[in-house]
Order: sequence, then C-alpha cells, then structure tokens
Amino acid sequence: MDKIIIRGGNRLVGTIPIGGAKNAALPLMAAALLSDEPLRLSNLPHLADISTMAHLLSDMGVSIAMDGDAPDGGHMGRVFALDASTLNSTTAPYELVRRMRASILVLGPLLARHGHARVSLPGGCAIGTRPVDLHLKALQTMGAEIELTEGYIDATAPNGLQGGHVLFSNITVGGTENILMAATLAKGETVIANAAREPEVTDLAHCLVAMGAKIEGIGTDTLKVQGVEKLHAAEHAVVPDRIEMGSYAVAAAITGGNVLLQGGRADLLESVIDVMREAGVDIQDEKEGLRVQCTPGNLKGFDAMTEPYPGFPTDMQAQMMVLASVAGGASMLTETIFENRFMHVPELVRMGADINVHGRSAIVRGVEKLSGAQVMATDLRASSSLVLAGLVADGETVINRVYHLDRGYERLEKKLADCGAEIERVRGEG
Ligand code: EPZ
Repeated sequence: MDKIIIRGGNRLVGTIPIGGAKNAALPLMAAALLSDEPLRLSNLPHLADISTMAHLLSDMGVSIAMDGDAPDGGHMGRVFALDASTLNSTTAPYELVRRMRASILVLGPLLARHGHARVSLPGGCAIGTRPVDLHLKALQTMGAEIELTEGYIDATAPNGLQGGHVLFSNITVGGTENILMAATLAKGETVIANAAREPEVTDLAHCLVAMGAKIEGIGTDTLKVQGVEKLHAAEHAVVPDRIEMGSYAVAAAITGGNVLLQGGRADLLESVIDVMREAGVDIQDEKEGLRVQCTPGNLKGFDAMTEPYPGFPTDMQAQMMVLASVAGGASMLTETIFENRFMHVPELVRMGADINVHGRSAIVRGVEKLSGAQVMATDLRASSSLVLAGLVADGETVINRVYHLDRGYERLEKKLADCGAEIERVRGEG
C-alpha cells in the first residue's frame, strides 16, 4: 500500500486548482439512470470513488465514454458521457456497495425508471452506523414495496412510483438526492420537506432540470417536484469541491502561507470562511478564486459545531481541528452529524496535539509545535487532517492507508508540492 511522507515546516505559496466535487459527481452519475438519452458530465474529479461509481453503472450495462479532459490543462476535470439506454441489470452488488456507500444513490433512479431495483444494504462505516432507513421510508411513501433479504434491499413499484408528501425526520443528503431523482419520474407531485440544502443537492437539482425535470424550491428545504413522463439528454458541469477548497484553505492558514484556490467559490463555504476569519485567517474572493493568507503566529482559538448546510460541514471538522491544534488559546469543536467522527484525535495527539474529547465535543488547546510521526486514519477526512498536521509538524510524518485520501483528493501530493510542501508518495506493494 502507498504511503505519503511529509517533512513539515514549509510555508505554502502558490496556486491550487480546485476540482469538481466528489459528493456532487456521484449522484450526478446516478442521475444518468433516469433517462435513455446520454448525460454529459464535465469537471468530474479523477478519484477512486468516481471509478467505483463508473464500475457500478457499467456493470449494469450503462455505457460510459470518456471524452477526455476538458481544456484548461485538466483544471476543468474529466468529461464523461453516460448512456443508460443499454441498461441490462438493476442490481447493485455487495462487492461494489461495500466499497462505496454512495452506491445507494442508484436505488431511487432505478426504481423510478424500471419499477424494480436490488441494492446491497451498505453496512456501517468508520464514522458511524449510517443507516439508510430514511431513504427506504420515503420511497415507501411514494408507493414502493421494500423487502430486506439476504443483505439486499429488494424494491419494486409495479405500477410506477406515485407522488406524495415526504417529510424527512432528520436531514439527509443522500436521502434527499435519492428521493429527488425518484420524484422526477413519479406520477404527480412530490413534496420533499426538511430536505438537505447542501450545494451538491442543489447541483443535482439543476442537472435534473436540464434533463427536463420540473423542480421548484431549489436551494431551500422544501422541494416540489412535478413528475414527467421521461427525461432527456443534457450537459452539466460539476460544482467545485467545497471540502477540497476548505482543506487547502487550512493548509495555507496553518503554514502561514499565501495560496490562491483557483476556481474556489466563497458562496459554497461561507460557514467555514466565517470561522476561519474569526481564527485570524485572511480570505479574499478574487476573480480567479479564493485567496487565503495568514501571518505566522496569528491564529487564535474558535468554536464550531457541525450542522447540515448552511451550517458548518462535518466534512471539515477534522481539518479545522488541526488549525485549532496550532492556534493560540483554546477551541471547541462539536460533532452533531456522525457519532464516531473523532477517529483522528488519537493520531493527532500522537503528533503532540492537546485534545480532550467529552461526548460530542473536543476541547483543543493550541500547542507551539506538532511533531512528525507514523500515523494512519480510518476515513477520508481524518486522513486529510493528518496530511495537514504533517505540513506543520517538526520532522517527518508518514501517512499510511493512503487509499482513503485517493477517494476524495485528486493529485493531493502534487497540488501541495507545487506550493512548496515537501511531500512525496512512496508506492507500496499490494
Ligand atoms: C453525505 O453522506 C456525504 N457523502 C458525506 O461525505 C457527508 O459527511 C454527509 O453527507 C453529511 O454532510 C456523499 O455525499 C456521497 P446523510 P450521506 O444521509 O448522504 C443519518 C465525505 O467525507 N441518516 O446526510 O450518507 C446518518 O447516519 C463524506 O465525503 C439516518 O439516520 O449523509 C447521519 O448521522 C463522508 N438514516 C445523518 O443522518 C438515513 O436513512 C446525515 O447523513 C440516512 C441518514
């Protein structure tokens, strides 16, 4: 397995291109299942999860043509044309769902267009139990019959899905996306109340509208969808990745650097920008993207609590904990979305951070210096926090289990090295 080795202490200066959002691209790819005409997606990031989704869709018979990288030296990402007219299976097997939970996003589109779907139940994962009960309950409200057998969700809608009033008891990003896609082809009107408003949900809604869907309330917590007979061909560019943007903003801040996040958009990351400014980071919206600068020694403690959008994102909690670890004074980070998302804490403590967890909150007291160590993490954002810690640690940090990073950060070591970080990937066997 590959490792990443970082020798910390360098100030980051330069430009980091921001790719398309993984968490927008995955549902967008699943949306191709809603039509027998092609969906052309551009600005797709080159990541392991995107390959897994492509694998899942092509296993079902979807033909996927890669139209190469868009112009602009690859900064605008990859282009895929997905054509589901050749679909020959409505099963998402355990082998693929186990690798990537977002595979559940094929359930709504398959059921809406084909009246049946068999999707392996995703198990728990490192950050929590992560059930899909809200997806299933909402589909039942729309007339789906659901049985759980042999670890699979067997869903049918022999007479097609019916519109209905779906009220999510908890805000769920994937649940909202699944039901939104299903509702586009259901009979009559579906109202989705307490819907997730994450930019990735909004991006999906815009793409569905381009495919001919009728959706009102985009960007709000109530989505109204009038079902249509069929959706048609469309083109769509994936929204920039706000979490990639936030992660590199932290890298620039903690190293006392000056980095332009090319293609970054402040409107996607307001809650994080507010907290970073409170912590002493200078962030400016420029024509080409976001500029993040920080004077060494200027960082101070802050409080943040994760919440659904537009609140502070759970996917930035681990990275901001590194910023808190090297800031002056104390910070408190509270996690409300996932029950087990402090797995990075023991590793950061091994690197010299002063962090105490009390229930859902972590109290972080800033230290003068972190020190390099051998570390590993169990999920994507925890891994990225260890890279960030390595950038400011004394000596060498070796990050194992790099495959987590490869699921969500494209060319991470190159982007950081181009700004002056001393970072390299060592290829491993197996
Ligand atoms: C999405 O996961 C993201 N993944 C996650 O990104 C992100 O952390 C999360 O939203 C929250 O913002 C993708 O978009 C592919 P949820 P999702 O349904 O949709 C509970 C990353 O690092 N819940 O909004 O699975 C659930 O357990 C990641 O890129 C139920 O109880 O998240 C959690 O506590 C990891 N029942 C909360 O709701 C359900 O049926 C929010 O989960 C569904 C969810």
